[in-house]
Amino acid sequence: MQAWDVIVIGAGAAGLMCAAEAGKRGRRVLVLDHGKRIGRKILMSGGGRCNFTNYYTEPAAYLCGNPHFVKSALARYTQWDFIALVEKHGIAYHEKTLGQLFCDDSAQNIVDMLVAECDAAGVTIRLRAEVLNVEPMGEGFAVTTAGEPYRCQSLVVATGGLSMPKIGASPFGYRLAEQFGLKVLPTRAGLVPFTLQPEDKQTLEGLSGVSLPVVAKSECGARFAENLLFTHRGVSGPAVLQISSYWQPGQRVCFELLTEGSLSGAVADSPNQELKTWLARYLPKRLVDALLARGELVSKPLKQYTHKELAAIEQRLAAWPLQPGGTEGYRTAEVTLGGVDTNELSSKTMEAKKVPNLYFIGEVMDVTGWLGGYNFQWAWSSGWVCGQVV
Ligand code: FDA
Repeated sequence: MQAWDVIVIGAGAAGLMCAAEAGKRGRRVLVLDHGKRIGRKILMSGGGRCNFTNYYTEPAAYLCGNPHFVKSALARYTQWDFIALVEKHGIAYHEKTLGQLFCDDSAQNIVDMLVAECDAAGVTIRLRAEVLNVEPMGEGFAVTTAGEPYRCQSLVVATGGLSMPKIGASPFGYRLAEQFGLKVLPTRAGLVPFTLQPEDKQTLEGLSGVSLPVVAKSECGARFAENLLFTHRGVSGPAVLQISSYWQPGQRVCFELLTEGSLSGAVADSPNQELKTWLARYLPKRLVDALLARGELVSKPLKQYTHKELAAIEQRLAAWPLQPGGTEGYRTAEVTLGGVDTNELSSKTMEAKKVPNLYFIGEVMDVTGWLGGYNFQWAWSSGWVCGQVV
């Protein structure tokens, strides 16, 4: 049985960062992953360019049962630290929008950088090595894979969430946490498109491809000013992905299509203009036609509306309600909400409070970031702090 100081399960963003840091401290580190390639999610992220962090990373951008949990790691390894690493490796990058940083060239740059950091730190990475079972052994653990058995002093679980089962996502980390008596909070898909109720699907599917800037609002008060995209399956786009993480089945979401007050002002300027003509100056015409066809609006010259009618139209368009039928689920979700309860873990080291030498990092725990590079930053920050102590 091969003995290692540290075994990291998962050669994803968090696992590689942690392994490199632990290796730099002189620890003998083995990374095991059941996939054929290192960092598969990194490679497919950001449309192949990896949105690797966000200039505006802050704790408020994370959903977590204990909102204070993320503060320590994010403060100790910041977006600026990761940007410095990217620059040290000569990787060209740019800000796309809203502080989101992408590689100019390819996400492969980020994987190559992490592999180079691991190589320099003497880390061993084994692929096609599925971890099947873990048992306590002395002060450490015995790790069973389909191939060789291993033992280690410290075990780091970096198995990620459930999204994209096709590329190796597995519930292994959650089962392991439960096996050691740690609480796992219910999981659900996040950053995911919505599907529609049958009646909405009928009247809105013709809008497939229409995109517009909106403010998406959840029942719990979350708001995101980004784009809404109608698809042939439902609604998507950054506004929808963001708000989906705050949505629970049965709830409504609202989209501000038009700011309140703009229509009332138009009556004096263009009294003879039809509502639909005026609206088409601000909204895609296909959307205006769909709202008329759905009976949500009746078009006539603006001067013919009463104040009350205008106010009602404004209110509807300032908070256009939609009750999603559901989400597209883990098949297309970018992240998994829920996971290993952070109350079970030290926010300074990511070690399980009840199980010495067992650590959880990255998406497997109940920490989910907004769209825009926040999830990778959590993987870097949690992986880095863990790498300082394992
Ligand atoms: P990750 O999922 O990266 O790694 C876990 C690894 O564990 C996998 O390699 C898996 O094979 C391995 N594993 C699981 N079980 C195992 C077992 N039993 N034995 C051995 N190995 C096992 N975020 C962001 O900030 N910017 C972005 O641009 C994007 N874009 C994006 C696009 C798409 C399509 C998706 C699906 C997701 C994103 N994300 C993102 C989210 C981001 O990819 C995600 O949050 C991180 O990859 C999480 O990193 P982890 O290291 O925690 O898990």
